[in-house]
Amino acid sequence: MGRQSLLITGAGGQLGAALREVFPEADARSRAELDVTRPFEVEADLVLHAAAWTDVDGAEADPSGAELVNVEGTRNVAALGAPVVYYSTDYVFDGSKREPYVESDEPGPQSVYGRTKLEGEREVREGWIVRSSWLFGWTGTNFVRTMLRLGAERDEVSVVADQVGSPTYVGHLAEATRELIALPHGVWHAAAEGECTWAEFARAIFEDAGVECRVREITTEELGRPAPRPAYSVLRSERDGAPRLPHWREGLRACLGRLP
Ligand SMILES: NC(=O)c1ccc[n+]([C@@H]2O[C@H](COP(=O)([O-])OP(=O)(O)OC[C@H]3O[C@@H](n4cnc5c(N)ncnc54)[C@H](OP(=O)(O)O)[C@@H]3O)[C@@H](O)[C@H]2O)c1
Repeated sequence: MGRQSLLITGAGGQLGAALREVFPEADARSRAELDVTRPFEVEADLVLHAAAWTDVDGAEADPSGAELVNVEGTRNVAALGAPVVYYSTDYVFDGSKREPYVESDEPGPQSVYGRTKLEGEREVREGWIVRSSWLFGWTGTNFVRTMLRLGAERDEVSVVADQVGSPTYVGHLAEATRELIALPHGVWHAAAEGECTWAEFARAIFEDAGVECRVREITTEELGRPAPRPAYSVLRSERDGAPRLPHWREGLRACLGRLP
């Protein structure tokens, strides 16, 4: 690709794992190898900044912790002076729309996590703000792995049925990143085709994995998590030439194919 040095932050995370595969030439650093909240000097012509505080509920209890990583950490990454791919989230929106959010929609985060990710976007001086949603992959903690674990232990799981989004496979987002870095700087929405509720996603996981487990639909209120989440946060791009990611169902099959 003609770049000299490519740095991946947060390489130990689920997106980091996928970026390592798509960019094998990169200097991929996990948190232990590069903590973005501490002073660091790295030679880089381009940074894929996947490091973040991603514990959405934990951020409500520790806003300054989330801010430190998502805002100050991003400021430090931007200070390297290289263009940055900053991965952002559907949680920057308030979820009141009933049709897909596009790049020109006004953000309105409801949670500490969403707010700190939006503030992090504003730290990027040069590069691409890539908003994606409901990430899942073959490593780390994510909905697919959680459902497979619960499905093996129980006959029934209770899953929220009043939040709609687009579950996005990290492998597809990593591939889309290759396309994005050839496109103009700015905000880009990059999420899987299609949409579903968490309950529908859970049913698809059990169906495709051949797991016998019922899904009981519950409301967000019943689940009672500390952080508010958007009721609707499907993302689409309104920009010319935006990468098109495969349907979430295809992403799910690709992910399940890599899980034991
Ligand atoms: N997960 C989602 O549904 C979702 C949706 C939309 C956008 N995103 C965004 O996509 C990006 C990747 O998310 P992901 O799902 O891959 O999350 P992840 O699996 O939690 O990965 C994030 C990584 O960042 C690391 N990290 C945390 N603090 C750090 C620090 N101070 N310095 C360096 N690394 C640090 C974490 O290390 P430790 O595990 O050791 O703390 C973790 O390995 C994030 O920017 C996230 O905000 C995620």
